[in-house]
Amino acid sequence: MASFIVFEGGDGSGKSTQSRALCRRLQRRSYPVLLAREPGGTPTGESIRRWLKTHANLNPISELSLFVAARAQLVDDVIRPALGRGATVICDRYTASTVAYQGYGRQMDLELIGRLNRAATAGLAPVLTVLLDLPVRAALARKERQDAIESAPMEFHERVREGYLTQAAADPDGWLVLDGSRSSRDLSREIWAKVQPLL
Ligand code: ADP
Ligand code: TYD
Repeated sequence: MASFIVFEGGDGSGKSTQSRALCRRLQRRSYPVLLAREPGGTPTGESIRRWLKTHANLNPISELSLFVAARAQLVDDVIRPALGRGATVICDRYTASTVAYQGYGRQMDLELIGRLNRAATAGLAPVLTVLLDLPVRAALARKERQDAIESAPMEFHERVREGYLTQAAADPDGWLVLDGSRSSRDLSREIWAKVQPLL
C-alpha cells in the first residue's frame, strides 16, 4: 500500500543516510519505492536547489518562495503520481523544514508558512515524520563543506532545532523523534520497526 514517509532534522543529522537505508530495505523486499529530496527532485527543483546553495543573504521572502515553489513542483510531478501507482514515497525534508528553518530559524510568520505549505502540497501530509535530533555542533561538524544556509550563525541552527522539537511535540503520533547521535545501524533498525506496520 502507498505510504509517505519524511525524514527531518538539522543539517548533518543523518537524514540522507537514513532515507537511503530505508529505501534499500524496501527495495530488497520488492516494495515499489521512490526516494526524493527537498529542494530538488524535478528539473525546476534542482535548479532552485543549486541557486539556494550558492546565494547567501537572499531576501527572506525570496528564499521562502523558492522552497515553496520547489515543493509544489515535486508534489505535483513526482510524489502524487508515485503514491497513485502504489509506491512508498520517502522524502528527505518536506513542509516541516520550512516551518523549522524559515519559521523558527528566520523567525518568519508561521501562519503564512502554514498557508503556503498547504497551498504547495494541497494538504498532502506524510503518515510518519522521522526527526533525527542531535546537538547543532555535533551535526554541523559532520559536514565537510558548508553551504549558504549551513553557514548561518549557531543561534539560527539552535532555533531550527527547537522548531523541529516543537512540531514533533504537537503531533506525537505522526512523529518519531530519535537521538541522531546513535549509530546509523541502530537508528536504521528502529526506523524499520516503526515503518513496517505502516506498509
Ligand atoms: P544530512 O542528510 O542530515 O545532512 P547525512 O546523512 O548526509 O546527513 O550525514 C552527514 C554526515 O554524517 C555523513 O558523512 C554521514 O556519513 C555521517 N553520518 C550519518 N549518520 C551518522 C551517524 N548516525 N553517526 C555518525 N555519523 C553519521
Ligand atoms: P541539504 O543539503 O538538502 O540539507 P542537508 O545539509 O540537511 O543534507 O540542503 C538543504 C538546505 O535547505 C538545508 O540547509 C535546509 C534548507 N531548507 C530550508 O531552509 N527550508 C526548506 O523548506 C527546505 C526544504 C530546506
